[in-house]
Amino acid sequence: MKRDTLKSLTWDEENSQLVLIDQRKLPHKLEYFICDNYEDVAFAIEDMVVRGAPAIGISAAYGMALAEIGGEDIEKAYNRLKNTRPTAVNLFWALDRCMRAYRDRRSILSEAKLIHREDMEACRRIGEIGESIIEDGDTVLTHCNAGALATSAYGTALGVIRFAHYRGKSINVVVDETRPRLQGAKLTSFELKYEGIPVKIITDSTAGFLMSRGMIDKVIVGADRILKDYTVFNKIGTYSLAVLAKYHNIPFYVAAPTSTFDFKSSIEDVTIEERDEREVLYIEGKRIAPEGVGAYNYGFDITPFELITGIITERGIIYNENDNRGNSF
Ligand code: MRU
Repeated sequence: MKRDTLKSLTWDEENSQLVLIDQRKLPHKLEYFICDNYEDVAFAIEDMVVRGAPAIGISAAYGMALAEIGGEDIEKAYNRLKNTRPTAVNLFWALDRCMRAYRDRRSILSEAKLIHREDMEACRRIGEIGESIIEDGDTVLTHCNAGALATSAYGTALGVIRFAHYRGKSINVVVDETRPRLQGAKLTSFELKYEGIPVKIITDSTAGFLMSRGMIDKVIVGADRILKDYTVFNKIGTYSLAVLAKYHNIPFYVAAPTSTFDFKSSIEDVTIEERDEREVLYIEGKRIAPEGVGAYNYGFDITPFELITGIITERGIIYNENDNRGNSF
């Protein structure tokens, strides 16, 4: 049973450095990006060296620890890290925990390590609990990368898939490219190949056709923020998949740790990240659209709970009682 998943981030105790897998270089090169100070961490989050809600939260916590170690202004570090990306709540949750530790005169580094360990445990539990929704022979569609690369280990949506695989279930994965950053084509396929789980890539526009042909049994995605009414913010394209899954009567699950829940905000309070339009207008550095044409580049969308069968957390599965697609209740 293979349990050594990729480590998107590691704390190097000896050198007091945060070591990140440089996700911009995958799948062609496995290179590391070393953070010596909080500014390095802030850059890594902004430029998506590290990405995925739990992974950016943990990285930001180590960024605060680096500020503490370097004797820097903690409030300044907090504000810099807080302004890196707006949508995933794990970032603010982790930074607030570190700020509380600092104000209580506790070690920020110890708090960061605790956040890191807790996420590993949460992802492991999500995998163990969630694998029960997978049946032997299922073909599962996933979106973006909610894997080990997006967390401390295992992943959330991919944690569920990994544990089904570890428990001997035969499972096929279909992942969409996830334009424009291609987390599906580049990262999820890389992770699944590493694990030996069969995976096929589709363009983002192929999902409906596969569903209409009966080629998808379940959809499982991650989340960047979940509100108290279980509205889910996740990578752009999630909402379209949820609508398609509902139409085709295919169970649609979200997997996320409780650190992704935000019971304080309402929909209007949440900023949907808008990234540089060049991410859409260019592919691998080459412009694909005519000069003078602009683009929308929203990073995330909003899926209401009515389109969701269940939310898998480390504490159990929150089923939507009004949804009759699931087969586990
Ligand atoms: O822009 P990204 O790559 O950081 O977006 C990541 C996602 O949307 C993931 O699906 C989400 O963070 C869940 S990760 C376990």
